[in-house]
Amino acid sequence: SVDLSHRTFLKELDFTPEEFRHLLELSAQIKAARRSGCEEQRLRGKNIAVIFEKTSTRTRCAFEVAAHQQGAHVTYLDPVGSQLGHKESVKDTARVLGRYYDGIEYRGSDQRLVEELAQYAGVPVWNGLTDQWHPTQSLADVLTMGEHTDKPLHQVSFAYLGDARNNVGNSLLITAAMLGMDVRMIGPSALHNAPDVVEEARKVAAGTGARITLTEDVAEGVAGVDFVYTDVWLSMGEPPELWDERIALLKPYQVTSAVLRATGNPRVKFMHCLPAFHNSDTTVGAKIAARTGMTALEVTDEVFESFHSIVFDQAENRLHTIKAVLVATLAD
Ligand code: CP
Ligand code: NVA
Repeated sequence: SVDLSHRTFLKELDFTPEEFRHLLELSAQIKAARRSGCEEQRLRGKNIAVIFEKTSTRTRCAFEVAAHQQGAHVTYLDPVGSQLGHKESVKDTARVLGRYYDGIEYRGSDQRLVEELAQYAGVPVWNGLTDQWHPTQSLADVLTMGEHTDKPLHQVSFAYLGDARNNVGNSLLITAAMLGMDVRMIGPSALHNAPDVVEEARKVAAGTGARITLTEDVAEGVAGVDFVYTDVWLSMGEPPELWDERIALLKPYQVTSAVLRATGNPRVKFMHCLPAFHNSDTTVGAKIAARTGMTALEVTDEVFESFHSIVFDQAENRLHTIKAVLVATLAD
């Protein structure tokens, strides 16, 4: 049987496919227990720190609520309130927090920072998003896919449209490879996953039977898929000066009703890790609309609000999957 105690989770490939599937099963068990009112608290007396060098709604709240529901205590370190990054290095902060806490979540920019944190903290570290990977997101995403299909995951197909070079694009490609899925990364070739990530995914796929397609052709890419997924066109930390170029490159890859129809699957589901630019009701959305005339970018409001959309089931599953990660790595 699988034992993940004291393990660190910085990217999907820190786990074997078997270990990853174990986390999915544990997530489903914990979710069912919560829903039937018989959740068992397995983290009483534990303390965790959650460090956010970038903003967050889902990841922060899911970590905090998951920990509380399991009986653990949480310290939240925001992007400016600690010495980290201003007067103290990751390496020094890691050696301090490792003496107080049983585990540490970290969201920041470069993957090397979360690796350094894990190297020096001496306790489990969980990646809550870096520029390269978003592994707690992909875990929630495949749990959600499993809930919205009758097929086993290795028979499931999905298309990811848009910026595949970002954290979510990388994490989904590797996750699909690990689980033997049929994945199509669709976008301009300049924004396909970087060659080293594709190579890694293909290596994994050779052992799992996953099918990997990278294409610029939307109609060809989405044909027959069970799920259509997209993410923002400009990720946190990327300079707004890139905006015009990105929009020009990615405009043909907006998820519209026509894209969903092109799948040929009337029951196709739409997914997005959120937050999404599907209207101009936010300050950033209003700015983009003023600048570009577009009131939606990666997905239309029509698709986002349609019966195809399962984005809030996905968001809920962040809680159950992060809880499973905490329990698997920290419980006695
Ligand atoms: N999907 C996700 O990670 O959302 P937050 O940025 O709100 O945490
Ligand atoms: N790619 C996005 C994901 C947000 C959850 C970003 O990094 O901003």
